[in-house]
Amino acid sequence: MIQKDFLPNQYTDLPEEGKVTWKAPSNIALVKYWGKRKNQIPANPSISFTLDACATTTKVIYSKKKDVSQFSFDLLLDGKPKEDFKPKIEVFFERILDYLPFLKSYHFKIETSNSFPHSSGIASSASGMAALSLCLMDIERQLDAGMDQDLFNRKASFLARLGSGSACRSIEGGIIQWGGHSGVSGSSDLFGIQYPYEVNAVFKNFHDTILLVHKGEKQVSSTVGHDLMHNHPYAENRFKQAYANLDKLKTVFSEGNLEGFIEIVESEALTLHAMMMTSMPYFILMKPETLEIINKIWSFRKETKVPICFTLDAGANVHVLYPESVKEKAIQFIQNELVAHCENGHYICDRIGSGAKKL
Ligand code: PMV
Repeated sequence: MIQKDFLPNQYTDLPEEGKVTWKAPSNIALVKYWGKRKNQIPANPSISFTLDACATTTKVIYSKKKDVSQFSFDLLLDGKPKEDFKPKIEVFFERILDYLPFLKSYHFKIETSNSFPHSSGIASSASGMAALSLCLMDIERQLDAGMDQDLFNRKASFLARLGSGSACRSIEGGIIQWGGHSGVSGSSDLFGIQYPYEVNAVFKNFHDTILLVHKGEKQVSSTVGHDLMHNHPYAENRFKQAYANLDKLKTVFSEGNLEGFIEIVESEALTLHAMMMTSMPYFILMKPETLEIINKIWSFRKETKVPICFTLDAGANVHVLYPESVKEKAIQFIQNELVAHCENGHYICDRIGSGAKKL
């Protein structure tokens, strides 16, 4: 599918009003997206586990308005007006207007809430943009009754990408790849797809316990971080590495090779942060506690042979990944040794989920 396939047919009748609610999950990247080109096109393909517990629920109430010259919307987070989120939504609406031309015909009341605590250091942009895109797609589906589920999901992912890149991996469940790769059939820079190849059962119900090391605002936003990959001395090799890691993952997934998985996933996390440390200006998002946790995971794995590993997103929090078969041992280890490094002892037990749901 190409960009113009997402332009809609002519609408006939716009409903006067309505409401729609969607819940969309967060996701955690195994091969990381870091660096982008114009229009939110990723510099390299990425792959993620869709999560379950960390999610955003968004309700959109829409009513037709007369003045169609501009956007009109109210935004509420946990029932309270959230003025500082509005510019981001305005930019998002501007970017997707060609694909959803009804946007200026309605006043929208957007009510949103996250399952995870506000300012937990967990980005809500992926689940938030995915939930909003799904609500808007639901409105479009009412105008285009013939739309099939595949197009619905692809376009929701396409729109979410224009809000926040990684949000395009938060529509469907399981393992999602975003970014064109000649070795992965159907993959595209424009939207995420469910991983189309064989995945061993061991990877189907993985757990992700998120250790909240630092709950404050990060010093450097993802937008700035992505930008610093332009003219980065190691960028080209990093992008090549991501393609190569996706190739390696194919056999790792089909064979259920946990050792291979751990090697790729931990290397990807550290490479992401190495790119930050070697940007100009350079920056560090990990905290001393992040490193303490990583070292403890390595020692525990060496001593016990329990296949538990970590990944990081663009922040100090640590995602601890492990298969269902070692759940008891992993949780005991996390509680005994790792939780002490979390801010106020806070962590979230999450796992691979089945994707966004209409409520
Ligand atoms: O979607 P963004 O622009 O917030 O970027 C997310 C980047 C990482 O979380 C660090 C990696 C990824 O692939 O999710």
